[in-house]
Amino acid sequence: CSNYEYGPLIASIDEGTSSVRFMVFASNTGEVVAYHQLPLKSSYPFAEWVEQDPIEILKIVIECIDETTKKLEAKGFCPSNIVAIGITNQRETTILWDKYTGLPLYKAIVWMDNRTSVTVSKLLSNKEDRSKDQLRELCGLPISPYFSALKYRWLIDNVPEITKAIQEKRCLFGTVDSWLIWNLTGGVQNGIHITDVTNASRTMLMNINSLKWDTKLIEFFDLPADTLPEIRSSAEIYGYLSSTSLKNVPIAGCVGDQHAALIGQLCFKKGQTKCTYGTGCFILSNTGYEKIHSKHGLLTTVAYQLGKDAQPFYALEGSITIAGASLSWLKNNMKVVDDLENVNKLAEEVSSSNDVYFVPAFQGLYAPYWDSNARGLICGLTMETDRRHIIRAAIEAVCYQTKDVLDAIKQDCGLELTQLKVDGGMVKNNLMLQFQADISGIDIVRQDFLESTAYGAAIAAGMAKGIEVWNLTEIKQDRIVFTPKIMETERHKKYSKWKTAVMKYVFTKP
Ligand code: G3P
Repeated sequence: CSNYEYGPLIASIDEGTSSVRFMVFASNTGEVVAYHQLPLKSSYPFAEWVEQDPIEILKIVIECIDETTKKLEAKGFCPSNIVAIGITNQRETTILWDKYTGLPLYKAIVWMDNRTSVTVSKLLSNKEDRSKDQLRELCGLPISPYFSALKYRWLIDNVPEITKAIQEKRCLFGTVDSWLIWNLTGGVQNGIHITDVTNASRTMLMNINSLKWDTKLIEFFDLPADTLPEIRSSAEIYGYLSSTSLKNVPIAGCVGDQHAALIGQLCFKKGQTKCTYGTGCFILSNTGYEKIHSKHGLLTTVAYQLGKDAQPFYALEGSITIAGASLSWLKNNMKVVDDLENVNKLAEEVSSSNDVYFVPAFQGLYAPYWDSNARGLICGLTMETDRRHIIRAAIEAVCYQTKDVLDAIKQDCGLELTQLKVDGGMVKNNLMLQFQADISGIDIVRQDFLESTAYGAAIAAGMAKGIEVWNLTEIKQDRIVFTPKIMETERHKKYSKWKTAVMKYVFTKP
């Protein structure tokens, strides 16, 4: 182990909706020295339900850590040079488990699961105020199936074993970060039950002013407060790894994945905005110390709190449920393409979508519409339409939805955005990024290094150990800028048609 020129190593567990990665960064250069990645399955037992197996999530995380450790050793690095680990994770996904057996009490209900749209209606029908926005001042969010509180309510209402476990004081609640940290720090033997402010800000139970669980919110959903994890900052030592090949390494960072990408893209200044294009698509705009309560369908969320006593930063977020997922749907359900690698080639064979519009509202529409009853639509079909136009329309839909959110940010903040930093699995697609620049009229900036999420968690963990890792990497980053190439009139024409397509659904829904 003689690679000291790389500096102390900092690692990240990046637990996303469709894959898990463990990455090790060299703090002196910012480069990734070893990593391992494995896919993660979801199951869809009924329409609108999306579940994952918490045990499988944990096993895959441990396998990624163990395999990366082997790769590190094979490259001559010493795993004991890893001084801190950060965790970043899919947010809102809800897990309940038994603190004495360590076993989950139900499958993980995944963030995009829409089963609780009935729970939302039921909850609101019992209240004097029927507005979905009535809790925004407290938690920054509209009442929607997206958030953990609704999933937890559903679990209590529908799974008798959970009610029993709550009565017997055996039940623990957590988002994926809490589940992993509890297990990795010892589980039934003294596992630490915590979450961080960013993950907690997505439950609907945390007060975004005090950064504490809020009694009014807990009572609104009628949930047991004693099952909730302790809320901590995003960068501090929570505990030590106990059950992998990397024993006793401190877990020192914990950040929801979209917040981690904001950090990893170095969006530390007010107004800096990033978009991560993956299964879904998430735009976060740093609003500094200010909490902006959106009047245009965005979420107010904690961006990060980098240290116990650090002041929290806030962000406005536009969450979009379906981005890359619509291409997977075209492949798996419609069989219009046999390999996602070919999607781009096919889309590039035509010069436009030929006025085909695709509204991928499979699970309802999130920002800025917040309609869980919305359903998908493909319109503008003619005898000339073929699969290439539909594929192109699916790609363009990601960009139109992003523009919906960018416009809302502009209206909420009164800020003219000039640039959007992008990352995530879809951004290798140049056609998409050029269309994004064209339709939003701003520069789209893609760094060469695309692992912003894992990097953000490593930055948080490094900070907890007093190691700053971003300056060097910023200097060495290469980037490509996509600039708008169409005129305002054309942009306006295309975007109006998108809006008409969205409204077509709104006006025809049952
Ligand atoms: O809010 C859900 C989000 O955190 C999921 O992100 O990257 O796993 O699709 P991703």
